[in-house]
Amino acid sequence: MNILILGSGGREHALTWKLAQSKKINRIFIGPGNAGTAETGTNLKLDPEKFSEVRSAVLENKIDLVIVGPEAPLTMGIHDFFLKDDILKDIPLIGPDKSAARLEGSKDFAKDFLMRHNIPTAAYKSFDKTTMHEVPAFLKTLTSPYVIKADGLAAGKGVVIVDNISEAENEVAAMLNGKFGAAGQKVVIEQFLKGIELSVFIITDGFTYKLLPVAKDYKRIGEGDTGLNTGGMGAVSPVPFADQKFMKKVAERIIDPTMNGLSLDGIVYKGFIFFGLINVEGEPFVIEYNARLGDPETEVIIPRIKSDFFELIEGVAKGDLSVRELEIDDRFVTTVMLVSGGYPGNYEKGKSIQGLDLTDGSVIFHSGTRKEEDSVVTSGGRVLAVSSWGSTMKEALEKSYTNAAKLKFEGSYCRTDIGFDL
Ligand code: AMP
Ligand code: GLY
Repeated sequence: MNILILGSGGREHALTWKLAQSKKINRIFIGPGNAGTAETGTNLKLDPEKFSEVRSAVLENKIDLVIVGPEAPLTMGIHDFFLKDDILKDIPLIGPDKSAARLEGSKDFAKDFLMRHNIPTAAYKSFDKTTMHEVPAFLKTLTSPYVIKADGLAAGKGVVIVDNISEAENEVAAMLNGKFGAAGQKVVIEQFLKGIELSVFIITDGFTYKLLPVAKDYKRIGEGDTGLNTGGMGAVSPVPFADQKFMKKVAERIIDPTMNGLSLDGIVYKGFIFFGLINVEGEPFVIEYNARLGDPETEVIIPRIKSDFFELIEGVAKGDLSVRELEIDDRFVTTVMLVSGGYPGNYEKGKSIQGLDLTDGSVIFHSGTRKEEDSVVTSGGRVLAVSSWGSTMKEALEKSYTNAAKLKFEGSYCRTDIGFDL
Protein backbone atom coordinates (compact mmCIF):
# COMPACT_ATOMS: atom_id res chain seq x y z
CA MET A 1 0.00 0.00 0.00
CA ASN A 2 1.37 3.42 -1.02
CA ILE A 3 -0.19 6.45 0.58
CA LEU A 4 -0.08 10.17 -0.10
CA ILE A 5 -0.49 12.72 2.69
CA LEU A 6 -1.38 16.22 1.50
CA GLY A 7 -0.02 19.18 3.45
CA SER A 8 3.24 20.52 4.81
CA GLY A 9 2.98 21.14 8.55
CA GLY A 10 3.57 19.52 11.91
CA ARG A 11 0.26 17.71 11.60
CA GLU A 12 1.40 16.04 8.39
CA HIS A 13 4.80 15.18 9.86
CA ALA A 14 3.12 13.56 12.90
CA LEU A 15 0.87 11.52 10.57
CA THR A 16 3.87 10.51 8.47
CA TRP A 17 5.84 9.48 11.58
CA LYS A 18 2.99 7.33 12.86
CA LEU A 19 1.94 5.75 9.58
CA ALA A 20 5.55 4.85 8.78
CA GLN A 21 5.28 2.44 11.73
CA SER A 22 2.40 0.52 10.09
CA LYS A 23 3.25 -2.85 8.60
CA LYS A 24 0.51 -2.37 6.02
CA ILE A 25 2.21 0.58 4.35
CA ASN A 26 5.04 0.29 1.85
CA ARG A 27 5.72 3.86 0.88
CA ILE A 28 4.58 7.22 2.20
CA PHE A 29 4.56 10.26 -0.04
CA ILE A 30 3.91 13.76 1.27
CA GLY A 31 2.86 16.63 -0.95
CA PRO A 32 4.56 19.01 -0.56
CA GLY A 33 5.86 18.07 2.95
CA ASN A 34 8.79 19.64 4.78
CA ALA A 35 12.34 18.77 5.85
CA GLY A 36 10.97 16.46 8.57
CA THR A 37 8.64 14.44 6.35
CA ALA A 38 11.49 14.02 3.85
CA GLU A 39 13.41 12.02 6.48
CA THR A 40 10.66 9.39 6.79
CA GLY A 41 8.86 9.52 3.47
CA THR A 42 9.19 10.98 0.00
CA ASN A 43 8.22 14.58 -0.57
CA LEU A 44 6.46 15.43 -3.81
CA LYS A 45 6.46 18.89 -5.34
CA LEU A 46 2.77 19.64 -5.59
CA ASP A 47 0.20 22.15 -4.46
CA PRO A 48 -2.67 20.39 -2.62
CA GLU A 49 -5.05 23.07 -3.91
CA LYS A 50 -4.18 22.26 -7.55
CA PHE A 51 -6.11 19.05 -8.02
CA SER A 52 -4.55 18.27 -11.40
CA GLU A 53 -1.13 18.21 -9.72
CA VAL A 54 -2.48 15.87 -7.05
CA ARG A 55 -3.95 13.65 -9.77
CA SER A 56 -0.63 13.37 -11.63
CA ALA A 57 1.21 12.56 -8.39
CA VAL A 58 -1.30 9.84 -7.50
CA LEU A 59 -0.95 8.19 -10.90
CA GLU A 60 2.83 8.53 -11.20
CA ASN A 61 3.50 7.10 -7.74
CA LYS A 62 0.84 4.38 -7.79
CA ILE A 63 -0.89 5.81 -4.71
CA ASP A 64 -3.56 3.58 -3.15
CA LEU A 65 -4.96 6.01 -0.60
CA VAL A 66 -4.85 9.77 0.06
CA ILE A 67 -5.10 11.57 3.42
CA VAL A 68 -5.87 15.28 3.31
CA GLY A 69 -4.26 17.32 6.10
CA PRO A 70 -5.41 20.95 5.69
CA GLU A 71 -8.92 22.30 5.18
CA ALA A 72 -8.52 24.26 1.94
CA PRO A 73 -8.47 21.30 -0.50
CA LEU A 74 -11.48 19.82 1.33
CA THR A 75 -13.61 22.95 1.22
CA MET A 76 -12.57 23.38 -2.43
CA GLY A 77 -13.92 19.90 -3.19
CA ILE A 78 -10.94 17.57 -3.60
CA HIS A 79 -13.08 14.61 -2.51
CA ASP A 80 -15.68 15.42 -5.18
CA PHE A 81 -12.87 15.79 -7.75
CA PHE A 82 -11.70 12.26 -6.94
CA LEU A 83 -15.23 10.83 -7.15
CA LYS A 84 -15.83 12.39 -10.56
CA ASP A 85 -12.58 11.08 -12.07
CA ASP A 86 -12.65 7.70 -13.85
CA ILE A 87 -9.40 6.49 -12.27
CA LEU A 88 -9.29 8.42 -8.99
CA LYS A 89 -12.80 7.35 -7.99
CA ASP A 90 -11.41 3.97 -6.89
CA ILE A 91 -8.70 5.52 -4.72
CA PRO A 92 -10.00 6.27 -1.21
CA LEU A 93 -9.50 9.82 -0.01
CA ILE A 94 -9.73 10.48 3.74
CA GLY A 95 -11.54 13.78 4.23
CA PRO A 96 -15.12 14.97 3.72
CA ASP A 97 -16.63 16.04 0.42
CA LYS A 98 -17.35 19.68 -0.35
CA SER A 99 -20.86 19.58 1.04
CA ALA A 100 -19.75 18.03 4.36
CA ALA A 101 -16.67 20.28 4.61
CA ARG A 102 -19.05 23.25 4.87
CA LEU A 103 -19.05 22.43 8.60
CA GLU A 104 -15.69 24.24 8.54
CA GLY A 105 -15.94 26.24 5.33
CA SER A 106 -19.07 28.19 6.26
CA LYS A 107 -19.73 29.42 9.79
CA ASP A 108 -23.30 30.26 8.80
CA PHE A 109 -23.82 26.66 7.63
CA ALA A 110 -22.24 25.28 10.82
CA LYS A 111 -24.35 27.47 13.12
CA ASP A 112 -27.53 26.59 11.22
CA PHE A 113 -26.61 22.88 11.50
CA LEU A 114 -25.93 23.21 15.26
CA MET A 115 -29.22 25.01 15.89
CA ARG A 116 -31.34 22.66 13.77
CA HIS A 117 -29.93 19.65 15.56
CA ASN A 118 -30.19 21.17 19.05
CA ILE A 119 -26.46 21.05 19.71
CA PRO A 120 -25.32 23.53 22.39
CA THR A 121 -23.68 26.61 20.85
CA ALA A 122 -23.73 30.40 21.35
CA ALA A 123 -26.84 32.35 20.23
CA TYR A 124 -26.22 33.87 16.79
CA LYS A 125 -27.61 35.49 13.68
CA SER A 126 -26.13 35.80 10.17
CA PHE A 127 -26.23 38.92 8.05
CA ASP A 128 -25.41 39.93 4.51
CA LYS A 129 -25.54 43.31 2.77
CA THR A 130 -29.30 43.06 2.30
CA THR A 131 -29.99 42.52 6.02
CA MET A 132 -27.23 44.75 7.39
CA HIS A 133 -29.76 47.27 8.73
CA GLU A 134 -30.95 44.64 11.24
CA VAL A 135 -27.50 44.39 12.87
CA PRO A 136 -27.98 47.10 15.56
CA ALA A 137 -31.25 45.57 16.79
CA PHE A 138 -29.68 42.10 17.04
CA LEU A 139 -26.61 43.40 18.87
CA LYS A 140 -28.95 44.87 21.50
CA THR A 141 -30.23 41.36 22.28
CA LEU A 142 -26.67 40.26 23.23
CA THR A 143 -24.35 41.27 26.03
CA SER A 144 -20.78 42.55 25.60
CA PRO A 145 -18.30 41.40 24.35
CA TYR A 146 -19.52 40.68 20.82
CA VAL A 147 -18.11 37.99 18.55
CA ILE A 148 -18.09 38.84 14.83
CA LYS A 149 -17.11 36.13 12.32
CA ALA A 150 -16.60 36.17 8.58
CA ASP A 151 -18.62 33.26 7.19
CA GLY A 152 -15.88 31.73 5.03
CA LEU A 153 -12.26 30.71 5.50
CA ALA A 154 -10.09 33.73 6.33
CA ALA A 155 -6.73 32.15 7.21
CA GLY A 156 -7.62 32.04 10.92
CA LYS A 157 -8.11 35.82 11.05
CA GLY A 158 -11.86 36.01 10.44
CA VAL A 159 -13.02 36.16 14.07
CA VAL A 160 -13.02 39.51 15.86
CA ILE A 161 -14.14 40.08 19.46
CA VAL A 162 -15.05 43.64 20.45
CA ASP A 163 -16.34 45.28 23.62
CA ASN A 164 -18.97 47.73 22.45
CA ILE A 165 -21.85 47.94 20.00
CA SER A 166 -20.42 50.67 17.78
CA GLU A 167 -17.15 48.73 17.30
CA ALA A 168 -19.26 45.67 16.51
CA GLU A 169 -21.28 47.57 13.90
CA ASN A 170 -18.07 48.92 12.33
CA GLU A 171 -16.52 45.46 12.20
CA VAL A 172 -19.61 43.95 10.56
CA ALA A 173 -19.60 46.75 7.97
CA ALA A 174 -15.87 46.27 7.30
CA MET A 175 -16.31 42.52 6.76
CA LEU A 176 -19.36 42.96 4.51
CA ASN A 177 -17.38 45.57 2.57
CA GLY A 178 -14.64 43.10 1.74
CA LYS A 179 -12.12 43.19 4.63
CA PHE A 180 -11.71 39.43 4.20
CA GLY A 181 -12.77 39.28 0.56
CA ALA A 182 -15.43 36.75 -0.37
CA ALA A 183 -15.16 35.11 3.08
CA GLY A 184 -17.01 38.11 4.50
CA GLN A 185 -19.98 38.21 2.11
CA LYS A 186 -21.91 36.85 5.06
CA VAL A 187 -21.14 37.64 8.67
CA VAL A 188 -22.10 35.73 11.81
CA ILE A 189 -22.63 37.65 15.05
CA GLU A 190 -22.71 35.56 18.19
CA GLN A 191 -22.90 35.73 21.94
CA PHE A 192 -19.53 35.55 23.70
CA LEU A 193 -19.12 32.46 25.86
CA LYS A 194 -16.80 32.59 28.85
CA GLY A 195 -14.99 29.37 29.62
CA ILE A 196 -11.99 27.23 28.79
CA GLU A 197 -11.52 25.78 25.31
CA LEU A 198 -10.55 22.28 24.26
CA SER A 199 -10.29 20.29 21.05
CA VAL A 200 -12.17 17.03 20.61
CA PHE A 201 -11.57 14.83 17.56
CA ILE A 202 -13.34 11.90 16.03
CA ILE A 203 -12.62 9.82 12.97
CA THR A 204 -15.70 8.57 11.14
CA ASP A 205 -16.51 6.35 8.17
CA GLY A 206 -19.96 7.94 7.91
CA PHE A 207 -21.60 5.23 10.02
CA THR A 208 -19.76 5.06 13.33
CA TYR A 209 -16.94 6.97 14.92
CA LYS A 210 -13.94 6.53 17.17
CA LEU A 211 -13.03 9.17 19.72
CA LEU A 212 -9.37 10.21 19.48
CA PRO A 213 -7.43 11.62 22.47
CA VAL A 214 -8.69 15.01 23.64
CA ALA A 215 -6.28 17.96 23.45
CA LYS A 216 -5.98 21.60 24.38
CA ASP A 217 -4.03 24.04 22.30
CA TYR A 218 -2.67 27.48 23.14
CA LYS A 219 -3.61 29.87 20.34
CA ARG A 220 -2.31 33.24 21.51
CA ILE A 221 1.27 34.33 20.85
CA GLY A 222 1.90 35.68 24.36
CA GLU A 223 2.33 34.18 27.82
CA GLY A 224 -0.89 33.84 29.78
CA ASP A 225 -2.97 33.69 26.58
CA THR A 226 -2.36 37.27 25.52
CA GLY A 227 -1.65 38.95 22.20
CA LEU A 228 -2.52 37.93 18.68
CA ASN A 229 -4.02 34.61 17.64
CA THR A 230 -1.66 32.13 15.98
CA GLY A 231 -2.13 28.70 14.44
CA GLY A 232 -1.26 27.29 17.87
CA MET A 233 1.80 27.64 20.12
CA GLY A 234 1.63 24.33 21.95
CA ALA A 235 -0.75 21.63 23.10
CA VAL A 236 -1.34 19.04 25.77
CA SER A 237 -3.24 15.75 25.91
CA PRO A 238 -5.14 14.51 27.89
CA VAL A 239 -6.99 17.55 29.25
CA PRO A 240 -7.52 17.16 33.02
CA PHE A 241 -10.88 18.97 33.14
CA ALA A 242 -12.25 16.81 30.29
CA ASP A 243 -13.05 14.06 32.79
CA GLN A 244 -15.48 11.19 32.28
CA LYS A 245 -18.48 13.20 33.38
CA PHE A 246 -17.68 16.07 31.01
CA MET A 247 -16.87 13.73 28.11
CA LYS A 248 -20.18 11.90 28.63
CA LYS A 249 -21.94 15.23 28.06
CA VAL A 250 -19.75 15.85 24.99
CA ALA A 251 -20.69 12.45 23.54
CA GLU A 252 -24.41 12.71 24.29
CA ARG A 253 -25.02 16.38 23.56
CA ILE A 254 -22.48 17.07 20.83
CA ILE A 255 -20.90 14.09 19.05
CA ASP A 256 -23.95 11.83 18.78
CA PRO A 257 -26.29 14.65 17.64
CA THR A 258 -23.66 15.72 15.09
CA MET A 259 -23.47 12.19 13.67
CA ASN A 260 -27.29 11.95 13.64
CA GLY A 261 -27.60 15.41 12.15
CA LEU A 262 -25.25 14.56 9.29
CA SER A 263 -27.23 11.43 8.60
CA LEU A 264 -30.59 13.27 8.74
CA ASP A 265 -29.23 15.91 6.37
CA GLY A 266 -28.10 13.18 3.96
CA ILE A 267 -24.41 14.02 4.39
CA VAL A 268 -21.99 11.08 4.31
CA TYR A 269 -18.94 12.30 6.18
CA LYS A 270 -15.69 10.33 5.83
CA GLY A 271 -12.73 11.68 7.73
CA PHE A 272 -11.94 13.65 10.84
CA ILE A 273 -14.27 15.99 12.70
CA PHE A 274 -12.62 18.50 14.99
CA PHE A 275 -15.02 19.91 17.58
CA GLY A 276 -13.71 23.23 18.91
CA LEU A 277 -15.47 23.24 22.28
CA ILE A 278 -15.69 25.51 25.26
CA ASN A 279 -16.38 24.35 28.80
CA VAL A 280 -18.69 26.88 30.43
CA GLU A 281 -18.97 25.95 34.09
CA GLY A 282 -18.91 22.24 33.30
CA GLU A 283 -21.22 22.42 30.27
CA PRO A 284 -19.79 21.87 26.77
CA PHE A 285 -20.68 24.21 23.86
CA VAL A 286 -19.50 24.10 20.25
CA ILE A 287 -17.46 27.13 19.18
CA GLU A 288 -16.68 25.71 15.75
CA TYR A 289 -16.32 22.60 13.65
CA ASN A 290 -13.26 21.83 11.56
CA ALA A 291 -13.15 19.21 8.84
CA ARG A 292 -9.61 18.02 9.64
CA LEU A 293 -7.21 17.33 12.47
CA GLY A 294 -5.80 20.28 14.42
CA ASP A 295 -2.26 21.58 14.37
CA PRO A 296 -0.53 21.43 16.92
CA GLU A 297 -3.14 19.10 18.47
CA THR A 298 -2.11 16.27 16.12
CA GLU A 299 1.42 16.49 17.51
CA VAL A 300 0.07 15.40 20.92
CA ILE A 301 -2.81 13.14 19.83
CA ILE A 302 -0.88 10.93 17.45
CA PRO A 303 1.93 10.09 19.94
CA ARG A 304 -0.80 8.92 22.35
CA ILE A 305 -2.13 6.33 19.91
CA LYS A 306 -0.50 2.99 20.64
CA SER A 307 -2.26 0.86 18.02
CA ASP A 308 -1.64 1.01 14.27
CA PHE A 309 -3.27 4.27 13.18
CA PHE A 310 -3.61 2.95 9.65
CA GLU A 311 -6.24 0.52 10.98
CA LEU A 312 -8.54 3.51 11.51
CA ILE A 313 -7.68 5.08 8.18
CA GLU A 314 -8.40 1.80 6.42
CA GLY A 315 -11.63 1.51 8.45
CA VAL A 316 -12.79 4.83 6.98
CA ALA A 317 -11.80 3.76 3.47
CA LYS A 318 -13.59 0.42 3.74
CA GLY A 319 -16.52 1.56 5.89
CA ASP A 320 -15.78 -0.92 8.68
CA LEU A 321 -14.41 1.45 11.30
CA SER A 322 -16.56 -0.16 14.03
CA VAL A 323 -14.41 -3.32 14.04
CA ARG A 324 -11.06 -1.51 14.08
CA GLU A 325 -8.89 -1.36 17.16
CA LEU A 326 -7.80 1.86 18.84
CA GLU A 327 -5.49 1.68 21.84
CA ILE A 328 -4.54 4.87 23.66
CA ASP A 329 -1.49 5.53 25.82
CA ASP A 330 -2.44 6.78 29.31
CA ARG A 331 0.61 9.00 29.52
CA PHE A 332 0.54 12.75 28.91
CA VAL A 333 1.97 14.17 25.74
CA THR A 334 2.83 17.85 25.43
CA THR A 335 4.17 19.86 22.54
CA VAL A 336 5.91 23.22 22.50
CA MET A 337 6.05 25.13 19.23
CA LEU A 338 9.13 27.07 18.21
CA VAL A 339 8.18 29.95 15.93
CA SER A 340 9.96 32.55 13.83
CA GLY A 341 10.55 35.97 15.41
CA GLY A 342 7.73 38.34 14.45
CA TYR A 343 5.14 35.59 13.88
CA PRO A 344 2.11 35.83 13.57
CA GLY A 345 3.03 39.15 11.93
CA ASN A 346 5.90 39.50 9.45
CA TYR A 347 8.89 37.24 9.90
CA GLU A 348 11.96 36.21 7.95
CA LYS A 349 12.52 32.76 6.48
CA GLY A 350 15.65 30.83 5.57
CA LYS A 351 17.24 30.82 9.05
CA SER A 352 19.50 27.85 9.59
CA ILE A 353 18.33 25.47 12.35
CA GLN A 354 20.87 23.93 14.72
CA GLY A 355 20.55 21.25 17.38
CA LEU A 356 18.17 18.79 15.70
CA ASP A 357 20.72 16.03 16.41
CA LEU A 358 21.05 17.00 20.08
CA THR A 359 17.50 16.38 21.27
CA ASP A 360 16.81 13.34 23.33
CA GLY A 361 13.56 11.86 24.69
CA SER A 362 11.23 14.00 22.56
CA VAL A 363 10.08 13.69 18.99
CA ILE A 364 10.54 16.80 16.87
CA PHE A 365 7.77 17.36 14.35
CA HIS A 366 8.71 19.80 11.62
CA SER A 367 6.27 22.49 10.62
CA GLY A 368 7.76 25.31 8.53
CA THR A 369 11.11 23.83 7.54
CA ARG A 370 12.85 22.93 4.33
CA LYS A 371 16.12 21.34 3.28
CA GLU A 372 18.76 23.61 1.83
CA GLU A 373 21.75 21.63 0.64
CA ASP A 374 22.89 19.82 3.80
CA SER A 375 21.12 21.98 6.34
CA VAL A 376 17.56 22.52 7.50
CA VAL A 377 16.24 26.08 7.38
CA THR A 378 13.06 27.82 8.52
CA SER A 379 10.34 28.29 5.91
CA GLY A 380 7.30 29.36 7.91
CA GLY A 381 5.96 31.06 11.02
CA ARG A 382 5.60 27.90 13.04
CA VAL A 383 8.85 25.97 12.68
CA LEU A 384 9.20 22.96 15.01
CA ALA A 385 6.91 21.18 17.48
CA VAL A 386 8.73 19.46 20.34
CA SER A 387 6.51 16.60 21.58
CA SER A 388 7.24 14.54 24.71
CA TRP A 389 5.65 11.86 26.86
CA GLY A 390 5.45 11.89 30.65
CA SER A 391 3.56 10.17 33.42
CA THR A 392 2.49 13.67 34.47
CA MET A 393 1.94 16.77 32.38
CA LYS A 394 4.80 18.43 34.27
CA GLU A 395 7.22 15.66 33.34
CA ALA A 396 6.22 15.81 29.67
CA LEU A 397 6.53 19.62 29.63
CA GLU A 398 9.97 19.50 31.25
CA LYS A 399 11.20 17.23 28.46
CA SER A 400 9.65 19.42 25.77
CA TYR A 401 11.24 22.55 27.22
CA THR A 402 14.65 20.92 27.77
CA ASN A 403 14.76 19.83 24.14
CA ALA A 404 13.25 23.07 22.81
CA ALA A 405 16.21 24.89 24.44
CA LYS A 406 18.64 22.81 22.36
CA LEU A 407 17.02 23.85 19.06
CA LYS A 408 18.40 27.11 17.79
CA PHE A 409 17.66 29.47 14.91
CA GLU A 410 17.94 33.23 14.70
CA GLY A 411 14.92 34.97 16.21
CA SER A 412 13.25 31.83 17.55
CA TYR A 413 10.50 32.21 20.15
CA CYS A 414 8.31 29.88 22.17
CA ARG A 415 5.78 30.33 24.94
CA THR A 416 7.16 29.14 28.25
CA ASP A 417 3.76 28.58 29.88
CA ILE A 418 2.10 25.79 27.90
CA GLY A 419 -0.29 23.95 30.25
CA PHE A 420 -0.23 26.85 32.75
CA ASP A 421 -3.99 26.92 33.25
CA LEU A 422 -4.56 23.20 33.76
P1 AMP B 1 -13.44 30.13 15.55
O1 AMP B 1 -12.65 30.35 14.30
O2 AMP B 1 -14.91 30.17 15.34
O3 AMP B 1 -12.96 28.94 16.33
O4 AMP B 1 -13.05 31.32 16.52
C1 AMP B 1 -11.70 31.60 16.85
C2 AMP B 1 -11.55 31.83 18.32
O5 AMP B 1 -12.38 32.91 18.73
C3 AMP B 1 -12.00 30.65 19.18
O6 AMP B 1 -11.00 29.70 19.35
C4 AMP B 1 -12.36 31.35 20.47
O7 AMP B 1 -11.19 31.60 21.24
C5 AMP B 1 -12.91 32.65 20.03
N1 AMP B 1 -14.39 32.57 19.94
C6 AMP B 1 -15.12 32.27 18.85
N2 AMP B 1 -16.43 32.25 19.13
C7 AMP B 1 -16.55 32.56 20.44
C8 AMP B 1 -17.65 32.71 21.33
N3 AMP B 1 -18.91 32.58 20.94
N4 AMP B 1 -17.37 33.01 22.62
C9 AMP B 1 -16.09 33.17 23.05
N5 AMP B 1 -15.02 33.06 22.26
C10 AMP B 1 -15.23 32.75 20.96
N1 GLY C 1 -4.93 24.44 16.48
C1 GLY C 1 -6.17 24.84 15.95
C2 GLY C 1 -6.40 24.43 14.57
O1 GLY C 1 -5.77 23.55 14.02
O2 GLY C 1 -7.30 24.99 13.95
